[in-house]
Amino acid sequence: MTARIPQPGFGTSGHEGAECTENVVRALEAGYRHVDTAQMYDNEDAVGDALAQADVDREDVFLATKVKPENLGGEDVVESTQESLDRLGVDAVDLLYVHWPLDAYEPQDTLPAMDEVRDRGWARHVGLSNFDVAHLDEARDILDSPVVAHQVECHPWLQQDELVAYGRDHDITTVAYCPIMQGRADEDETLTEIADAHDATAHQIALAWHHQRDGVVAIPKGSGDHVEANLGASEIDLSDEEVARIDDIDHEERLVDPDAAVWNR
Ligand SMILES: NC(=O)c1ccc[n+]([C@@H]2O[C@H](COP(=O)([O-])OP(=O)(O)OC[C@H]3O[C@@H](n4cnc5c(N)ncnc54)[C@H](OP(=O)(O)O)[C@@H]3O)[C@@H](O)[C@H]2O)c1
Repeated sequence: MTARIPQPGFGTSGHEGAECTENVVRALEAGYRHVDTAQMYDNEDAVGDALAQADVDREDVFLATKVKPENLGGEDVVESTQESLDRLGVDAVDLLYVHWPLDAYEPQDTLPAMDEVRDRGWARHVGLSNFDVAHLDEARDILDSPVVAHQVECHPWLQQDELVAYGRDHDITTVAYCPIMQGRADEDETLTEIADAHDATAHQIALAWHHQRDGVVAIPKGSGDHVEANLGASEIDLSDEEVARIDDIDHEERLVDPDAAVWNR
């Protein structure tokens, strides 16, 4: 079953408690229909509070969470997903990812458990995050469920052409994390020049570029007015020449260090 994954999604890492709830309520009421959380972010309860408070129906929101590496042993996948649902206050999530193929990740143990969670109706779809092509091939061979999304770091400085092409070939949406380079899009000269021409910000131009990329959905995080500004970026129409200039930026700069991300959050 192909999943329709709303663009853009709303990222939540690093926001906890009331701050997280406030941002997610604001995002939902502004029009985002996809929220991205994870067991690792310690904010599933705050996201659940936002879902309960926002003037938006649960069934209109595409809700994604991720099983953290230490919970990727088969039994722990099932048990920790049930705990995630309790914290989120929902019967099911729309998408459940393997967060990183690390630590307790053992394909023959982890992936059948992801299928089981889906069979129980706790996750409508299964996704993977931070895989390479070899690990994606292996996981797709083992899983009964289709992989509907692959979430990776992806932005104008790290465009992930190989993984995006793989996703297009296999009907897997590439969900782009750090889509505005963790707020550093305005350090990029090409993005700021194009932004000036559109009376927009460099962050919005980065998001418009994701939006025009076939098979990619971006999940920016933001607070305050950034919430609406990032949503509004979908309205910006970049010319073919502007897209080509951004395509040429790529200098393979990775912002998330897997070791730091997993062990220090
Ligand atoms: N699967 C994984 O392993 C993984 C890893 C990392 C992230 N993620 C997911 O991806 C989401 C997004 O990544 P991210 O949060 O690391 O980075 P990001 O979305 O690229 O950047 C977020 C930063 O940009 C700032 N910002 C947002 N909109 C802005 C705007 N219009 N103008 C200026 N600054 C702006 C935010 O500050 P303000 O709060 O002040 O707006 C925040 O500091 C995360 O929240 C998380 O859900 C997943």
